[in-house]
Amino acid sequence: MDITIEPCEKMLGQIRVPGDKSISHRALIFSSLVEGTVEIEGLLEAEDPLSTYKCLQGLGVEFNGDWNRLTVKGKGLRGLREPDNFLDAGNSGTTARLLLGLLAGQPFFSTLTGDNSLRKRPMGRVTEPLKEMGAFLDGRGGGTLLPLYVRGGNLAPLRYTLPVGSAQLKSALLLAALYTNGTTEIIDPFYSRDHTERMIKYLGGRIKRDNERILFETPLTLQAREIQIPGDISSASFFLIAAALAPRGELLIEEVGINPTRTGILDVLKEMGADVIILNEREYNYEPVADLFIKGGAPLKGVEINAAMIPRLVDEIPVLAVAALFAEGETVIKGAGELRFKETDRLNVLTLELRKMGAFIEELPDGLIIRGKSGISGACCSSQGDHRIAMSLAVAALFARGETVIQGVETVQISFPGFFELLKKTTS
Ligand code: S3P
Repeated sequence: MDITIEPCEKMLGQIRVPGDKSISHRALIFSSLVEGTVEIEGLLEAEDPLSTYKCLQGLGVEFNGDWNRLTVKGKGLRGLREPDNFLDAGNSGTTARLLLGLLAGQPFFSTLTGDNSLRKRPMGRVTEPLKEMGAFLDGRGGGTLLPLYVRGGNLAPLRYTLPVGSAQLKSALLLAALYTNGTTEIIDPFYSRDHTERMIKYLGGRIKRDNERILFETPLTLQAREIQIPGDISSASFFLIAAALAPRGELLIEEVGINPTRTGILDVLKEMGADVIILNEREYNYEPVADLFIKGGAPLKGVEINAAMIPRLVDEIPVLAVAALFAEGETVIKGAGELRFKETDRLNVLTLELRKMGAFIEELPDGLIIRGKSGISGACCSSQGDHRIAMSLAVAALFARGETVIQGVETVQISFPGFFELLKKTTS
């Protein structure tokens, strides 16, 4: 499906964005493992969490009620059953990697696959340490690519230093650790998003962090507690940046998760000169939440984003690159090689697509250089099947000269159904 976007002058309103994708996956998985029934409020109703939901159904989990207030009948840690067919993670890296960790703990056979994009993404980073814990995993590419099969059970605790700043990998290992006896120690020098750690603690697990060291003690029983999902700061970012760029922008985004492992975008926007205010700070299930207010029109300046900052804004790089197009001077992003292993090779796709609009953007092996203020023009661009590319191009199109056509916009269903409707409602 194509969409045509006209330039805008104003972005105004008071909005909410859909539930946090990372927390939604974890809420579905962990509530399936508790003793008792869990109510989840505000789950993201989009294709990625739906993939997790269907895989869990394939493992015998029962869900009731509507998506906005879902009831999950926990199976306890030992109650999942052998699936009678392939589990399909669709386009979702989080589904695939977290479930590999969960399946590694199960004393049965399962197979996991995904769509064309997911079947190209690296899984060896997860399968290798899971094998070290005692699970059998194999599949294409010597056990590094989906489809993969797993025969789990009898796992031993692991001592492991993460070689990449991936919260999906860290979470897979913590899920497998649920099925061990002892202390699992993970060294995470990257401080990647910690939603899994927070959820384990909320459900009664003994997990603590001491600088880079995460210690998780098992066995344990997960307790049933209500879970509330805040809005996704990654989805909010498209609107934050559009409002910052609008000559007349004034936007309040309510109920957004502001977990400090995810708020790199707010720090960088402030450093660029944007006017963002954090209001009404509160907490849902150990996850900090706030309302975000942004006022547009402030002149932005280019920034340097280095490797240490990447995990805190990894999914926001595409839309930050768009913000950089309108900032004074150069923005240099480095240490972002992980972006090549997302739904698309985002460094490459961003460069190709934004150049169609006349942007000055240069691809580095592990980053981007963007020269701002050279002006962009409407063009015919493609999402290349990547939801965050589709939404980033839409933000660029709002401030280009002339209209822009974006092809393949149905991909926003992965993380943000209703994105274009909300964009239309808030801009003029
Ligand atoms: C996610 C972790 C990140 C992020 C992805 C969601 C998660 O991926 O890009 O959108 O929910 O754990 P990596 O773990 O591969 O960095």
